[in-house]
Amino acid sequence: MAVVKSSLPEADLKVVGEALQGALVDLVDLSLVAKQVHWNVIGPRFRSIHLQLDEVVTTARTHSDVMAERASAIGVNPDGRAATVASGSAIGEVPTGWIQDQDAVRIMVDALGAVIQRMRERVTATDEPDPITQDLLIGLTAELEKHAWMFQAENV
Ligand SMILES: [Fe+2]
Repeated sequence: MAVVKSSLPEADLKVVGEALQGALVDLVDLSLVAKQVHWNVIGPRFRSIHLQLDEVVTTARTHSDVMAERASAIGVNPDGRAATVASGSAIGEVPTGWIQDQDAVRIMVDALGAVIQRMRERVTATDEPDPITQDLLIGLTAELEKHAWMFQAENV
C-alpha cells in the first residue's frame, strides 16, 4: 500500500530508494564503529582521537536520520534494523578489545574510505533520477571526506 505518494516515477524510485537505504546502513554502522573505537582506544594520542571519533558519530547520526527521512518522504521505507545494518554495511569487522591509537586511526581511514567510495557511487546514481537526494548525499560526502582527511593526516 502506497501510504506516501512519491514524487518520483517507479524506475527512479528504485534507484533512489536503494541509494538512500545503502547510505542509511553505512552511516548507522559508521556511528557504531566510531563509538566502538571511541570506547576502546588507548595510547598517547587517546584524548584527541577519543574526541575526534565523537565528531564522526555526530556526522553519521545526523545524516543517517536525513537519509532515512528522505526515503520516507519519497515513499520508501527506511530499514535501520541491526540485522540489516550488519549484513549490508561497507565497513569491515572491527577487532574486540583495546585498540592502540595508531590502529584506531587506520581503522577509521579504512572505514571512512569504504563508506565514501559507496557514497560517491550513490551521488552518481542519483544525479538524473533525483537531484534533491543527490544534494543530500553530496553534503554528507563532503563531511565524510573532511573526517577522512583528518584521520589520514594522522596516519603517518
Ligand atoms: Fe563518550
